[in-house]
Amino acid sequence: MSEREAFERQYQDSGFGSQRRYPNESLIGFLAGNYFRIPLEKRKSLRVLELGCGSGANLWLIAKEGFDTYGIDFAPTGITFCKDMLASWQVEAKLEVADMTQLPFEADYFDAIVDVVSMQHLNYQQHKLAYSEVNRTLKPGGKFFSYHLGENSISGRTAQSYIDHCTVADIAPGYPLAGNGPTCFLAGNEARKLMGNAGLINCNVEKQQRSYANQTQWIEYLIIQGEKVG
Ligand SMILES: C[S@@+](CC[C@H](N)C(=O)[O-])C[C@H]1O[C@@H](n2cnc3c(N)ncnc32)[C@H](O)[C@@H]1O
Repeated sequence: MSEREAFERQYQDSGFGSQRRYPNESLIGFLAGNYFRIPLEKRKSLRVLELGCGSGANLWLIAKEGFDTYGIDFAPTGITFCKDMLASWQVEAKLEVADMTQLPFEADYFDAIVDVVSMQHLNYQQHKLAYSEVNRTLKPGGKFFSYHLGENSISGRTAQSYIDHCTVADIAPGYPLAGNGPTCFLAGNEARKLMGNAGLINCNVEKQQRSYANQTQWIEYLIIQGEKVG
């Protein structure tokens, strides 16, 4: 089964239950730090895209905060649930079924492109393609945010087989986030290298640690930010 089919199956089997309903806190911090000083009524001129928006846990907030909101996901049923999520919050966004390694948008289009735990399902080669697409479709000075698994995560360190130096074929059963297929665990310097090679500047990577199973298992998240040359 391909990665796309696996996510599609998850949405068909578990519906809204397959993803979160509420936005990622670090994403809220990114939006607040960069844009919330702009009055709500003026944010409609800012285009924000979420890569791998799934059932819309983040996208509804982006729309509610007044941005011109776009979301893509390669799982059609995810996009169907995303429409329902947006309707339940009485907001709108432009949604498309698409692959983040080949974005269906013209160059210099978005003010911000964001990712919450979706890019981490790309292998390293696909990361390179997606980062290059981010740089292509951001406007000069546009901003990039990604919340992504980090290398110091037990689920990466205990994996049985690797697709490339940072992507595991699947997380071993019993470890956090198992059962989602290929998963990439980036080192901080790897994230900075991906941004730099794609042409992004002002790259910044922060780390967060989260415990699971009563502090016996640890997962690291990277908060990755960069900017297209202005
Ligand atoms: C773990 S979910 C996260 C969804 C959402 N960002 C959230 O925070 O709730 C990962 C999503 O990424 C999507 N995805 C994975 N690889 C993709 C790709 N190459 N192109 C587009 N979407 C992709 C999956 O279909 C899935 O909806």
